[in-house]
Parts: sequence; C-alpha cells; structure tokens
Amino acid sequence: MVSYSPEWNSHSMAKPFLRVLSGERHDPPPIWLMRQAGRYLPEYRQSRKRAGGFLDLCYTPDFAVEVTLQPIERYGFDAAILFSDILVVPDGLGQDVSFIEGTGPVLTPVRDVDQAGMLSMAGFDEVLAPVYETVRRLARELGDETALIGFSGAPWTVACYMVEGGITRDFHAVKSFSYGDPEGFEKLIDLLVEATIRHLSAQAAAGVDALQIFESHAGVLPATEFKTWVIDPVRRVVEGVRANWPEIPIIGFPRGAGPMYPVFAEETGLTAVSLDVSVPLDWAMANLPSGMPVQGNIDPAYLLSGGDGMARSVDRIVEACRDRPHIFNLGHGVDKNTDPETVAQLIGCLRKKY
Ligand code: CP3
Repeated sequence: MVSYSPEWNSHSMAKPFLRVLSGERHDPPPIWLMRQAGRYLPEYRQSRKRAGGFLDLCYTPDFAVEVTLQPIERYGFDAAILFSDILVVPDGLGQDVSFIEGTGPVLTPVRDVDQAGMLSMAGFDEVLAPVYETVRRLARELGDETALIGFSGAPWTVACYMVEGGITRDFHAVKSFSYGDPEGFEKLIDLLVEATIRHLSAQAAAGVDALQIFESHAGVLPATEFKTWVIDPVRRVVEGVRANWPEIPIIGFPRGAGPMYPVFAEETGLTAVSLDVSVPLDWAMANLPSGMPVQGNIDPAYLLSGGDGMARSVDRIVEACRDRPHIFNLGHGVDKNTDPETVAQLIGCLRKKY
C-alpha cells in the first residue's frame, strides 16, 4: 500500500475524507456518493436544460461548477466530485462522442488498429482545458472541510466504450479486437494510459485533493485477460500520475472484479479501493491489504426503497468496516429515479449513530 506524509498539505489534511485516505479512521465515516450530481436532483435537471447538451454541461465551467456544488449545498457531503464524464478522454483524442437522451453515450466505433491509429493526443489539452478551469474554480470555492475528487475511467473501461460505440451487453466487439489482435489493442491501451496519466495529472495540477479511477467494466474479463487489460494498465496509470504527483491519494473502483479485488488492490499501487454492491464485507476485510482504506458499498437500490431496510444496511456496513479506514459510499451510482429526500435520510442514518 502506498502511504503519504500528512505534511504534504496540512490545509487539506483537516478534511475527514483525506484523513481516512491517509489511513486514519474517522467517526462518523465521511460520506459522498458516486453520481451524487445527476438527474435525480431537480436543480441538476434545470441546469442541464439551460446548458443544452450533456457535453456542453461538462465543458462549460460555469455550469460544471454549479452542478458539482449542488449536492454539496443540499446535503453537506464530505467530498465533491468534479462534474465531468469518463468519455471526455476519447473526445479529447479526436473520436466522435455524443450523448443522446434516453440512449446514453454514442461513439463512432474504433474496431481495429487502423481506426485506433487515427486518434492522437494532438488536440487533447485544448479540448480538456475547460475541465481544468472547472477544477481551479471548485478548488477555490470549496470550504476547508470538503474535499475535491478528480477522476477518469480506467483504460479498459474507456476502451470498451470506444470499441463498442456505446453501452453494450455482451462486449463482443471489444473482446474480438483484444483477443483477436492483442498487439493492435495494446496500441489503443497504450494511448489511453498516456491520455489518462495526462488527464489525471492536469486535474491534480488544477487543485483536486484526490483522484478516483473508474474501472466499471472490470467484471467482464477472464482472469488472465484481467491481469493484462485491467491490472497492468491501471498500475501504469498510477505510476505515471505518481511520477508527477507522488503524494496524491488514488482510489480504484474495479466494479465486478469479485475474487480479483485483492490482487487488484495489491498490484496496482492504489491508495484505496471502492467496493461494489456484491463484495461480501467480511471477505473483503479479511482479504484486502491490511490497513488499506475502503469505500462503499450500500446498494443504490436501497435509495429507492428507503426506510428500515436502508437503515439496517447502513448499520451492517459501518459495523463490518469498523476496523478499517472507511469512507461511506454506494456500490455504484445514484439511480435517476431516487427521491432526493431518501438521500437525506441515508446521511441521517449514518450521522445519527455518533
Ligand atoms: O456525480 C458524479 O459522480 C460525477 C459525475 C460523473 C458522471 N459520469 C456524470 C454523468 C461521473 C464520475 C461519471 C463516470 C462515468 N461515466 C462512468 C463510470 C461510473 C459508472 O457509472 O460505472 C461511466 C461508465 C460513464 C459513461 C456514461 N456517462 C454513461 C454510460 C452514461 C449514460 C447513462 C446515464 O445515466 O444516462 C453517461 C451520462 C452521464 N454521466 C450522466 C451523468 C450525470 C447522465 C447524463 C444526463 O444528464 O442525461
């Protein structure tokens, strides 16, 4: 496990979220939720309407700052996550990316090494400049208690969208490419490793306190391919970011990794891991590297039902994580049909225990 010196930023270290990432426990556990800014909030839907398209929201600092802060103002979470998307990286590499209401992301697919060869870093910094401006403004606006998280997708997950051209059930296009032409696919992964290091390092330079790497499609690969396309690229990203920013905490979210969670946690050099809904906590506590902070992992569907079931689930998670540095979070993103009032109740369940 990588540890870092608390002196690196004594101002930031007052933030409970960062203290936990440095290996301390904090009671109550700090809380933030994946997709805490999004369509379940009426104020988000308003801003989204005013911005026009989803990418306009991501690339207009006035709007991106506004929607990042909405859940902080409403709920007082311990961390804000930069409002952006993992697919700004392929956009910055020159791929056609759009978001279509009701369908989700649509990309002109990259199906082989020749199509991958059309992409480049040439326009990357310019396309992504507004994202870093958003980070600079947020870093100035957030108070002493609230941390700012920057993020990216992991190379494999971003490659899934780039090759499939959008959301997929079977991952056949990306598997055909990576299994059929591993050397060619490696070139795409190499480009994504470089772009991801650059993107995360630029967010660090602009003032985020911590980073999260979303490997949302970790769960679709057999074990050997998991090592090649998940662990190795994430380890290279972590090493590359740390070469620029040795102290920055980096959380990994290998959703669906199942029994591969411990080896992912050990071999990537990450500071912490975020647990998905299916990870049994007693198993995770026994098998993850000792002292490594964890994030998670209430099922976001509890936010649809609320009530006693949700309260019991909060209790079980807090109890199971009592011997580790723990950040309370969901096992995946907030669903768009969530009632905002239930999110307030979730936070109430957690904080009333102390
Ligand atoms: O609050 C936050 O967590 C910060 C913002 C954030 C978004 N996307 C905003 C968003 C973050 C961290 C992401 C990450 C992301 N994006 C992931 C990894 C996490 C995960 O969910 O597994 C992935 C796979 C994507 C790609 C993506 N973006 C998809 C598949 C979709 C469509 C699905 C949907 O919910 O519509 C998006 C769109 C998207 N990204 C929305 C938001 C708020 C909804 C867009 C809208 O307003 O219509």
